Amino acid sequence: MQVEPVPLNSLARHVAPLRARLLAAMESVLDSGHYVLGAGVEAFETAFAEYCGTAHCVGVANGSDALELALKATGVGQGDRVAMAANAAMYAATAALACGAEPVFVDVGEDATLDPAALERACDGSHPVRAVVVTHLYGRLAQMDPVMATCNARGIALVEDCAQAHGARARDGRRAGAFGNAAAFSFYPTKNLGALGDAGAVTSRDPAVASRVRALRQYGWERKYVNAASGGRNSRLDELQARVLSEKLPLLDGWNLRRREIANRYSNGIRNQGITVPGPAGEEHVAHLYVVYCEARDRLRAHLAAAGIASDVHYPLPDHRQPCFGARHAKLSLPVTERHARTALSLPCFPELTDREVERVIDACNRF
Ligand SMILES: Cc1ncc(COP(=O)(O)O)c(C=O)c1O
Repeated sequence: MQVEPVPLNSLARHVAPLRARLLAAMESVLDSGHYVLGAGVEAFETAFAEYCGTAHCVGVANGSDALELALKATGVGQGDRVAMAANAAMYAATAALACGAEPVFVDVGEDATLDPAALERACDGSHPVRAVVVTHLYGRLAQMDPVMATCNARGIALVEDCAQAHGARARDGRRAGAFGNAAAFSFYPTKNLGALGDAGAVTSRDPAVASRVRALRQYGWERKYVNAASGGRNSRLDELQARVLSEKLPLLDGWNLRRREIANRYSNGIRNQGITVPGPAGEEHVAHLYVVYCEARDRLRAHLAAAGIASDVHYPLPDHRQPCFGARHAKLSLPVTERHARTALSLPCFPELTDREVERVIDACNRF
């Protein structure tokens, strides 16, 4: 008998119950005759800033642009050094390079987010660091108190990468996107809050940062055809994506709750000496990805595949080992980052995963 495959994610399942309301939203855009940066974008920007608990949100074309424009808007430019983790698929590094800046790679802790002590050492090195990008990887808030203390004490700009962490909330109620001088979000379809195509946003409490991003996303315009800001480009958000995101935003907390429930079921249910599960998921974690560590990762992956269970590796090659850098970082050793890259395995984790599927994954892990 053939077993039903358990997918890593299923966007078809995700959008099926939303079909009627998404079609209605798209139809209203069609009928409006206005398709880029209009009332729908403004409404989403207002709603998302309010959701994140910050003053401003500026919609842009995708999460990569959001990172780059956030860095530029906080003052990063040619020759600046930007500190960041090396375990997040080059997103922050690519943004820094696009600003003409140089990535300074820092190791992570066991929670896969920036190690605050390592960050402090990097910021106290002989060359000044202009900005830090902190990535809330897999949906878990980084250790924001020490990271902010390091930046504040030295006047270093802090940019959060919230592409995997929409809605993650600290004990004091502050959400991802409300800590840094600016924060970048991706609404790529697989994200916890996803559009039906590419989309992104920058949030900030600082009106000057927000207005620089607003200029940079549209050619550097201060007003129409007046290019005041250099480094501008076209990175506008369109009405269709904004309306889709506005329809989905009220459902985000419920989806995050279910993701968290699945993550905690896995962590409580997987009992295998060879598989290290992550710590419990409270509100600071929105379980964008559920990542375990296993020295025999490839064998575990094959074992799961044989049981019809999909898995993936986020991410196999750390930034400082990417071919685009040649031998530049050959002498740099980031032990935790490198161990994670060798052992990390993502198990299926999305709101529409059924309890039966979750049990099948747990059972397969325990039989490994
Ligand atoms: C942590 C992180 N940062 C940045 C990005 C880039 O976002 P986008 O794909 O929308 O450019 C992603 C998305 O894949 C991501 O996961």
